[in-house]
Amino acid sequence: TTRADRVRALVAAHRGDRGALLPILHRIQHEFGYVDADDVPVLASELNISRADVHGVVTFYTDFRSEPAGRTVVKLCRAEACQSVGADQLVSYAEQSLGVKLGQTTPDGAVTLEQVFCLGNCALGPAGQVNERVHGRLTPDRLAALLATART
Ligand code: FES
Repeated sequence: TTRADRVRALVAAHRGDRGALLPILHRIQHEFGYVDADDVPVLASELNISRADVHGVVTFYTDFRSEPAGRTVVKLCRAEACQSVGADQLVSYAEQSLGVKLGQTTPDGAVTLEQVFCLGNCALGPAGQVNERVHGRLTPDRLAALLATART
């Protein structure tokens, strides 16, 4: 089956649900790792809503990726508590050292850099998450070490 067939099957599983779009998008992302631009017209026609509406939801929720993630996903917290202890400097460092902006993946597919708003680790900011693991009191050096480990 093609990806579009699979997307149609996911829609069918939620047929009749109110507000089905969000759960369907989550299932697409779970299954494929991202929501492809080509999924938008399929969803629009299956759910009988406009492409603009689907696109609006996909772009509004930062949870949805538009391309596959890198092998390592780094999320840096930019919520208030972490901001006050240097989250921005950490983000700048990460962007510089990886050569990507927030939301982007390094060209070799190794690392995706993302922002997040609170990891529940506010007392130990700046906080970040490397793959599934949360780390506190991050400094550029500690982040560099984590990235070096993740990339080997
Ligand atoms: Fe960063 Fe809560 S504000 S973990």
